Parts: sequence; structure tokens; C-alpha cells
Amino acid sequence: MADRQKKRCNEAPAVEPSAALNAVCPYYTMFPLEFPISVMEKFHKQKLCVLDPFCGRGTTIFAARLKGHQAYGIDCSPIAIAIARAKLAETVDSDVMALAKEILESETEVVVPEGEFWKWAYSAGTLREVCKLREGLKGLRSDAANLLRAICLGALHGPLTVSVDARSYFSNQMPRTFASKPHYSVRFWKAKALSPGSVDVLKVITNRVARLKLDTLPKCEGTSKVSAADSRLARGYASVPETIDLVITSPPYYGMRTYVADQWLRNWFLGGLPAVPYGERNPLSHQSPEAFAESLAQVWDRVGERLSSSGRMFIRFGAIPSRKAKPREIMLTSLEHSRFSWEVRRVRLADSAASGKRQACHMGDRVKSEAIAEHDYEISL
Ligand SMILES: C[S@@+](CC[C@H](N)C(=O)[O-])C[C@H]1O[C@@H](n2cnc3c(N)ncnc32)[C@H](O)[C@@H]1O
Repeated sequence: MADRQKKRCNEAPAVEPSAALNAVCPYYTMFPLEFPISVMEKFHKQKLCVLDPFCGRGTTIFAARLKGHQAYGIDCSPIAIAIARAKLAETVDSDVMALAKEILESETEVVVPEGEFWKWAYSAGTLREVCKLREGLKGLRSDAANLLRAICLGALHGPLTVSVDARSYFSNQMPRTFASKPHYSVRFWKAKALSPGSVDVLKVITNRVARLKLDTLPKCEGTSKVSAADSRLARGYASVPETIDLVITSPPYYGMRTYVADQWLRNWFLGGLPAVPYGERNPLSHQSPEAFAESLAQVWDRVGERLSSSGRMFIRFGAIPSRKAKPREIMLTSLEHSRFSWEVRRVRLADSAASGKRQACHMGDRVKSEAIAEHDYEISL
């Protein structure tokens, strides 16, 4: 990747104060907030009911909140769900900070993972506090807990700053978008003689809460909700109203199967094992482009049951170059294989493709993002 483009891809996007919550934690293959917002702005209906069956970090859900629409998200990754739920949190700085202090000051005994990775990734004191937060947040579902959880996920790993006082992440030097694998990380830290240093965890959280400008956020519309489920199955749609106006989504690209393995450290924070979960179970079949299209068709079937006759579905879709597959063919085949008759009204190159905000930018250096073209499909029944 050219240096300039790489830099652009690693930059956190500039956001309006009320949109800061969307950047609470980066997510693999997230799309920019401008995409769902620009789609919603095309519709004149005051109150839309919006669905994203592959909601990831909840960009569509958050855009709907900002625009005063009701929104429903479904995702099968626990990391996605934890971040997306924070987008619907209605809370204030003092509640989030009170919860953080209560957890950090508690006397609870916590299990601290051992081994070379953990010694190099965090100072002993920081790791203890991270483990306290991990334990203390388990099972908590209040809005303050949902927000604090996403803040911790966002702070869990990222770049080091020159000054320890200006720290924004808990970890030694790591990418912010995905967690590098333990052996690679240790080799890297040793080679560069990078030690983690002690981080003031509460201060990092305080600064991050302040940046979110929670008081500028509108309330959520209606019964907006994020559900942890496989979007091919009926279960995930239990809380979704019978009629929806708009679907804005981006399915995984064919061959993108490592959503949890690449987020293994965040997965650990959410209660997973302290190791990379190799052999991740993927609800969509990635065995062949045809099988993948078939899996997507099952999602379009569920969506078709609810989309109003005047409704629209907007899909952003591309490909990873390591897989020899034609994304447009996959998309059109998936629509043909659905039991509903879908009409593709428009296909265009994604706006953001030229501006360094492509989903591909968030996949890390292993993916040559220059080779990926993302298209937006506008579809109706
Ligand atoms: C391209 S990402 C979506 C990113 C999202 N647009 C955002 O801005 O964060 C695709 C998402 O689909 C999810 N996913 C894959 N298969 C799924 C399935 N069968 N059901 C629900 N979610 C699924 C992945 O966990 C991933 O979060």
C-alpha cells in the first residue's frame, strides 16, 4: 500500500461532535457514517424504520439515531454486537464514570492471563485493571455498561504515544482496527524494544467519555434494537417490526471469514478465551462463490418478508483480491436465488472508494486494498 494511502487508512475520521460516538471503537470493514446518512437523506418520510442485517459496529443504526429514525441491527459477532449496542446507549458522562470507578475500586479477585504476550502487551498494573473491567462488565446490560464496554474495547489496543500522559490506549504498540497475533506481536515488541509502560486506565476512560459529547446526542427513536443472531434465521428478526422502509447493509465479502479471530483480544475482553479462536464458525458458507451467494439469498429472503412494497435496500459490496470471485456476479446471483423478485435499480462505484474511507482500508496490510472495488446496489421488490 502506498505510504500516503496507508496513512489515510489508519487515520481516525474527523467527526461532528454529535457523531463522535460512532468512532467509539473501530471495526473491521466498517463503512463510513456518510454512506447510511446520505441514503436516509434521499427519503422524505419523517420516520423511517431501518434494518441492517449485517450491522457490524452499528454505523447504520447510529445514522438512524442521528436522523430520528427507528433502527434494527443484527450481527453474529459478539464484538460487533458490543460496539453496536453502545450506539443506542442513552446515558450521561457521570453514570459511565461512576460505573468505571465502582468496578476499578472493587476488591473482586480476577483471573489475570499469563504468558509472554500478556507481559509485553500490558504493564502488570494495567492488565489487572483491564481484567477488573472485563470481569465487572460481564452480564451488565445497562446503557452505561454498554457504553463503558465499547469504550474499553476501543481503548484495548492501539498505537503508543510519545508521552505516557497522553495515552489513549491501554496496550503496548498495536494496530487499533485488528489485534495482531500473539507470536507476531511479541517478536515485534522485542525487535523494537517497546515496553508497554503503566497506563492510567481511569484517565484514558475519562478522556474518551468526554470526547463522545454524550449530551449532544438525540434520543433513540421507538424501540430500536441490536440483536445477536445469524441473519439467515428467523430468530434474529423477532423484535423487528413487520414492515420496514429501508435496508442499508454491507455483507462480508466472499472469503472474509476472520471477523472474530482478527479481533481476538476484544473477544477475550468480552469473556472469550485468552487466545486466538482459530477455526471460527462462519454462518455464511465461503466454500465457493455459488454457496456464498446461496447463503446471502437466505438473508434477502428474511429481509423480503418485511420490506414494504415501496421500500429500498442499499447494499455496499466488494471483494478481497485473494479470492478469485466477481462480486457483482455474487450479488446478482444471491438476489436471483432469493424467493423474492428483486429489481436492481442502480449500481454505482461507492462514493467513499476514492476518499480513503473504504471498508477495505480497515482490513490491515495483508489485504491490498488498491485492488478492491466496492459498489453500492440500490434494490427494490
Ligand atoms: C462488512 S461487515 C459490516 C460492517 C458494518 N457496515 C459497519 O459499518 O460496521 C459484515 C458483518 O457481517 C457479520 N456477519 C457475517 N455473517 C453473518 C450472519 N450470517 N448473520 C449476521 N451477521 C453476519 C460479520 O460479523 C460482520 O460484522
